[in-house]
Amino acid sequence: MNLDHLAAIANAMVADNKGLLAADESTGTIGKRLDSISVKSTEDTRRDYREMLFRADGLGEYISGVILYDETIRQNAADGTSFTRILEEKGILPGIKVDTGAKALAGAEDEKVTEGLDGLRDRVADYVLLGAKFAKWRAVIAVGDGMPSMYCINANAHALARYARICQEGGLVPIVEPEVLMDGTHSLNRCADVTELTLQRVFAELYDQGVALEGMILKPNMVIAGTDCAQQADVKTVAARTVESLRRTVPAAVPGIMFLSGGQSEADASAHLNAMNAQKDRLPWALSYSYGRALQASSLKVWGGDNSNNPAAQAQLLERARQNSAACAAQYQGEAA
Ligand code: 13P
Repeated sequence: MNLDHLAAIANAMVADNKGLLAADESTGTIGKRLDSISVKSTEDTRRDYREMLFRADGLGEYISGVILYDETIRQNAADGTSFTRILEEKGILPGIKVDTGAKALAGAEDEKVTEGLDGLRDRVADYVLLGAKFAKWRAVIAVGDGMPSMYCINANAHALARYARICQEGGLVPIVEPEVLMDGTHSLNRCADVTELTLQRVFAELYDQGVALEGMILKPNMVIAGTDCAQQADVKTVAARTVESLRRTVPAAVPGIMFLSGGQSEADASAHLNAMNAQKDRLPWALSYSYGRALQASSLKVWGGDNSNNPAAQAQLLERARQNSAACAAQYQGEAA
């Protein structure tokens, strides 16, 4: 494993208050997003939408890397230029989702385990040739009655560490993403407990399997009450509890923590990130963003399936990226009225 190479990429991913654009929706998930704007999902509409995002002028000022899906990393823009080339010309690192999805966990009906280890070593080699510099694997931990089980947490932690080790040996920086879901009525305290337990198990597995912490990125959820919980915490509380949970579980050797947005509004995702970065002296790692929905939601709506809307849709994407990069510097001013 070439740790200097991995560490240089991991550090570049969080340098200069930049973050990641997660555009690695699987064919099923992007289908749902396109459906929400009444656009049929075809290879061409998926291409058009992502081409709009990737060609946004100035994207590289805020975005250090884009996470791609298997179809997208092999796809060309309408004029035949590969997407990876378009990104590289902007100084943006291409990354790749390598898991094959969260599937039913045998023996635990309502829980999931992420699959994709079979053949991963060969797929990593292939993605390196296609230009990928980092990879992503997302595990999902549901909170509910009797959930999560230790069985679910341990199965996912073990798979995350196996994935991470394979990526590092193949030359890709692994983004380790254990997502505690926001769905449900659970309290902020419950989210904090589950997040800490999950991270503690994940880092134990990473250690056991010899993953180099300096050459990885953590992509966690923030500590937030369930979407259907009547009592929602304010921005300061979410930020304080998230930093507390991370300080208890994430070694300082990890160069960067890049949050998922997980269904938060665009404004909340920026405000929370800002409030965390305002506690600079409590943070041994860079705290940044790797948002999907919280970068794309407005842009997708404005685009609406019509390429003549590209400039307006790109302006929305750039504005979200600018706001989140400001939040990395604790300089987010809130949304214009
Ligand atoms: P969201 O920010 O929409 O949660 O997506 C980030 C991501 O990549 C989830 O795996």
